[in-house]
Amino acid sequence: MNKISKFGTRYPFHPFPTGWFAVGFANELAPGDIRPLRYFDRDLVLFRTQSGKAVVTDAHCPHLGAHLGYESWIEGETIVCPFHQWRYGVDGACKSVPFSKSIPPRAKVKVWPTVERGNMIMLWHDLADREPFFELPEWDETGRVEGAGFQKLHDDFGSPHPQDVFENGVDFAHFPGVHSSGQAVSDGPIKADGHRFYSPVRILPTDYDGPTDNKSVGSTVESEVLGGGLSRVESRTPHAPGLTTIYYVSVTPVSAELSHYWVRQTFLRDADCPLSDEQAMAFTSLAAKHGEAEQWSDGKIWPHKAYVERPLLGAADGPILKYRDWYAQYHPEIA
Ligand code: FES
Ligand SMILES: [Fe+2]
Repeated sequence: MNKISKFGTRYPFHPFPTGWFAVGFANELAPGDIRPLRYFDRDLVLFRTQSGKAVVTDAHCPHLGAHLGYESWIEGETIVCPFHQWRYGVDGACKSVPFSKSIPPRAKVKVWPTVERGNMIMLWHDLADREPFFELPEWDETGRVEGAGFQKLHDDFGSPHPQDVFENGVDFAHFPGVHSSGQAVSDGPIKADGHRFYSPVRILPTDYDGPTDNKSVGSTVESEVLGGGLSRVESRTPHAPGLTTIYYVSVTPVSAELSHYWVRQTFLRDADCPLSDEQAMAFTSLAAKHGEAEQWSDGKIWPHKAYVERPLLGAADGPILKYRDWYAQYHPEIA
């Protein structure tokens, strides 16, 4: 079953879909910082200018090929190539060449569209090289519980395709077995409009055997997938009234053989949250510990699974095919 497709992977579609993809955590990149990156089979460089702008460009200097991610430095709003000190601005254009009054007109590095959302630095990748054709919302983090939650880059989950990872949100039947939860049921209509796939789920208590449409029991989990590279999940449980747990998950392909799984968990506290500070901290620290360990619950499945094009779906399964139909817009058949 685990046959290799014409794309050289176990998936029958291109390994590098279109969308916004995490390439770093915003609070781990200070002004003046520079990081070599490799994503989408390309050498890239990520840096933050002195005024605070995060920029991603192609890595190699068009002059004589030095990598701008090693031994380079930031001067104001430019990155300086370590080899002959040509300086490149945030638009990718060369701004100065030492000992020379003119700048060769083709002295330019490709700049990748970049935004910062939910403390993640998100890069736009499109197989057809188009400019971004949708924006990510600016999520409001008012009420964020300072110092709670976790963030982590996993490079140990093999090469799951982003589509396969985000399918988790609609894979109702995996919650009890993989995440030791109660039964997961639909909690309202799916919305698959444009570049957002929204799916609300209710997780019933493990010892509950009443009607599954009872809205007064269990936890709510609202997941949304935004384009081909990012998912955001909001959940609330009656155990912690007034607190919302938020996850951001982005899966960024490095190559056909490796994906980076970026995850951040944070908590928002309602202004009228009835919990004391101690109760809120007790919940968030437990949820952070649990949440960090839980990433492996799925992470140990992904490296070894096959992609089943025509799955044998049963009555307990979520809207998996609807989700796949929606996601297909992000991997047109381009080899
Ligand atoms: S290789 Fe970059 S300035 Fe020469
Ligand atoms: Fe899962």
